[in-house]
Amino acid sequence: MTGRITGIAGPTVTVDLKGLRLYEIVLVGRSGLTGEVVRLERERAVVQVYEDTRGLAVGEPVRGTTRMLTAQLGPGLLSGMFDGLQRPLEKLLERDGPFISGGSSASLLDSPREWRFTTDKRQGDRVLSGDIIGRVEEGAFHHLVTAPRDGEIAAMTAGSYSVCRVVGNYVDGTPISVCQEWPVRRPRPCLRKLSPTEPLVTGQRVVDFLYPLARGGTAIIPGGFGTGKTILEQSVAKFSDVDLVVYVGCGERGNEMAELLEEFAGLHDPWTSRRLMERTIVVANTSNMPVAAREASIYTAVTMAEYFRDMGYHVLLLADSISRWAEALREISSSLEEMPGEEGYPTYLASRMAGFMERAGVVENMNGTIGSLSMILSVSPPGGDFTEPVTQACLRTAGAFLMLDASLAHRRHFPAVNWFQSYSLYEQTMEQHFSRSVAAGWSEARQRCRTLLQREEALREVAEIVGLEGMQEKDRLILHSAERIRLEFLCQNAYSEDAFSAPAQIMAMIEAILADYDRLEACLAGGDTLEVALRKGGSEHASQ
Ligand SMILES: Nc1ncnc2c1ncn2[C@@H]1O[C@H](COP(=O)(O)OP(=O)(O)O)[C@@H](O)[C@H]1O
Ligand SMILES: [Mg+2]
Repeated sequence: MTGRITGIAGPTVTVDLKGLRLYEIVLVGRSGLTGEVVRLERERAVVQVYEDTRGLAVGEPVRGTTRMLTAQLGPGLLSGMFDGLQRPLEKLLERDGPFISGGSSASLLDSPREWRFTTDKRQGDRVLSGDIIGRVEEGAFHHLVTAPRDGEIAAMTAGSYSVCRVVGNYVDGTPISVCQEWPVRRPRPCLRKLSPTEPLVTGQRVVDFLYPLARGGTAIIPGGFGTGKTILEQSVAKFSDVDLVVYVGCGERGNEMAELLEEFAGLHDPWTSRRLMERTIVVANTSNMPVAAREASIYTAVTMAEYFRDMGYHVLLLADSISRWAEALREISSSLEEMPGEEGYPTYLASRMAGFMERAGVVENMNGTIGSLSMILSVSPPGGDFTEPVTQACLRTAGAFLMLDASLAHRRHFPAVNWFQSYSLYEQTMEQHFSRSVAAGWSEARQRCRTLLQREEALREVAEIVGLEGMQEKDRLILHSAERIRLEFLCQNAYSEDAFSAPAQIMAMIEAILADYDRLEACLAGGDTLEVALRKGGSEHASQ
C-alpha cells in the first residue's frame, strides 16, 4: 500500500493513503522516516513524524506497515540507552555520528548477543497466555519468558539464543521467542492493582522523613529553572531502593544526559553494590531531537518499565521533565490545528497525563508475581508559576507533591523542597511502616520536627520586630534547633558523602538534634540562658 504526501506542517504530514488504522506506523518519504497515524479523515490521514521533517517534499511516497508503535521487550535492555522510539543510541552514534539522521532502524533485535534460555515446557504442554514458559538470565536479573497466547506447545528447546531467534513453537506453527513486542500506548495487563504499602526509600532525608514516597506510587517535582529538579531526579536514580530504574531525559539539554551517563558509569548501587548502570535504562530525547519522538518517549519508557514489573520487580520511572513532553504534545496538537485549551495546550492534556500516570501502581501480575512501578516526574512551570496547566494536570493524579522553592534554592538550601507546601498522600502508611521497621520513635520524631519548623516560622516574624535579644530564651531555643534541622538535616549536598542517608541514619540524625533540644530545654528550666546552656556542650558541639 503506497500513497503520497499531500501536505507538511512542522512535525506532521498529511497523506492520501486510504485503509490506514489509527496509531498505525507508516514510513514517510523516500528515506522512510517513521511516523504514526494520529488522525483519520475521509480522504486522508494525518501522520506525526518521529524524525526531522526538513527535506521532505509533497508528492514523496508513503507506505503503511499495519504495525503499531511497539517496544521490544527482552534481554539486552538493561544498561541500555535508547531514543524515544527505542533505537539504541550508542549504536546510532557509531553508525551515524553525533547527529542522528532520519530513517535509522537499529533495534534490540539486531543484537548478535546470545542469552541462555532455560525451560521446563515440552511438546504437548498446554499453556495459557501469560504463563511462564522459560527464563533468561541477564546479569543479576532474570527475564521470565511468557506465553504470547493460549495453545499447545509443539517444541521448545533450552540453549543459547540471540533475541530474534525462535526457541519453540505452538502446534499451529506460531513461533515463540525470548523477545516480545508490545504497543507502547497500551498498558500491559495485570490481574489486579493493590494499594501501595511499602516505602520507596530515596536516600533524601527531606523526602523519606517528611514526604515519604511509596513503591507503586506517583510523585511530581515542580520547580522553576535552577531549583534542583535534575539533581534531585538523578540523586533518586542513584540511591533509591528499587530493583530497576528507567530514566527518561525528556527535552532537556543533551550535555546533561551525557554527564549523567558518564557519572553513572563509575557508580555503584548502594543497596546491592553492583554497578549502577546494570539496573538502569536510559531513554533520551533531548531538546535538539524531534518533538514527536519526545511525545512517544515516555510511552516507550513506561512500557519497558511495565515489562520488568511483570516479572515481579520494583521499577522506578523518572522523567525530567514532563513539561517538555507536554510542550511536544502542544506542538503536535497545534500543527494538527486542534482547538487549543489553556495556554495553547490541547484540551485532552489532563486526561493524557492521567492515563500515563495511571500506569504506575503495585500490581499482581498475570503470572502471579507482585511487582511495582513508581513514577517521579519533574515539572518545569514557566516562571515558577504553579497554577499553569501542566503542573495542575499532574497535581490531579500525583500521590506526592515535592514543591521546589526558588527562595530556598537561591539561599542554596538543597534539595529545595518546601517543607510547608509539599505533601504526600502516602505519609501515614509509610510513617507506620518506618515506625515498625526502623525505629519506634519515627512518628514522634517527625511530629516534633514539624512542630519546630512551624513554630520557627511563626517566631521569625517576632524576631524581625523585637530582635533576637528581645526574645524569650525558650523561643530562641526553638529558633536555634529549627535552624539546625534546616541546615544539618534537611539540606543534603548531592556532591558530598552526605548525598545518601539510609532510614536508620535519618533517625539517628534527627534524634541527635531533638535530644540536644531536650538537654538545652532542661538547662533553661534550671535558669541558664541559651548561651550558657550551649556552652555546657553536648552532642551539638560534637556534631559541628
Ligand atoms: N542537592 C544539591 N546539592 C548541591 N547542589 C545542588 C543540589 N541540587 C541542586 N544544586 C545546585 O543547583 C543547580 C541547579 O540544579 P538543577 O538540578 O540543574 O536545576 P533544574 O533542573 O531545576 O533547572 C545545580 O547545578 C547545583 O549547583
Ligand atoms: Mg534540569
